[in-house]
Amino acid sequence: MSRRRQIYEGKAKILFEGPEPGTLVQYFKDDATAFNNKKKGTIVGKGVLNNRISEYLMMRLNEMGVPTHFVRRLNMREQLIKELEIIPIEVVVRNVAAGSLAQRLGLKEGTNLPRSIVEFYYKSDELNDPMVSEEHITCFGWATPQEIDEMMALGLRVNDFLSGLFLGIGIRLVDFKLEFGRHWQNEEMRILLADEISPDNCRLWDLQTNEKMDKDRFRRDLGNVAEAYQEVARRLGILPEGGPRDLKGPAVMQ
Ligand code: TMP
Ligand code: ASP
Repeated sequence: MSRRRQIYEGKAKILFEGPEPGTLVQYFKDDATAFNNKKKGTIVGKGVLNNRISEYLMMRLNEMGVPTHFVRRLNMREQLIKELEIIPIEVVVRNVAAGSLAQRLGLKEGTNLPRSIVEFYYKSDELNDPMVSEEHITCFGWATPQEIDEMMALGLRVNDFLSGLFLGIGIRLVDFKLEFGRHWQNEEMRILLADEISPDNCRLWDLQTNEKMDKDRFRRDLGNVAEAYQEVARRLGILPEGGPRDLKGPAVMQ
């Protein structure tokens, strides 16, 4: 890792300079944070699982026409991605009341929403990612009206696709957070799906038992966090070969 130039270190991932111009290497850490870094911990094997889960979901989304930054997985903890200009907006899509929505509006957690909701949050640790409207986003120049429309449309397509995919493996997609970025090729700019899709930024509940299979287990001290992530990977059919033992293997496979 030390031979490469580090571009950025976030709470759960590190970005390094990629092998070719316009690419980056995204490294998945085992670190977990919640409540804007107030709660910190380590979930052993999380980076390996999220690298796999996000690879799988991004590849499936690419196949059905949702453009993403994902190029290919490099090893247990790293994937090659396209370098983007990240739009500083978190796009949250919700199907069921939970988390901050349940709290803000006094809804019982688990209530099905009459229709899916898209929300925007401004990415700012200092401000604790405040919820913002389209008016704020365009007023402060974070994204154009067209980009907002594109992010919303892509968010809903991702929701339709992933809801069905998870339903097929006995999991309810309660809500999730997406990030997008601008990618230039020749003179053209395209919005691509960025970041990761994993139990770190989705709420996933077992369809039969409503048991939580995502980062809420860490946020709420429910225990068996790594086991829950592993079960998501297992149901997706992508648990590393040789089972969970593989998770402790060397970071670099190639
Ligand atoms: P919320 O209910 O806390 O607003 O979270 C909605 C969804 O967004 C949930 O699936 C978790 C995800 N999320 C993130 O990925 N990062 C964050 O910083 C927050 C607050 C939520
Ligand atoms: N991104 C938030 C943080 O670091 C965590 C969360 O998902 O709740 O604290």
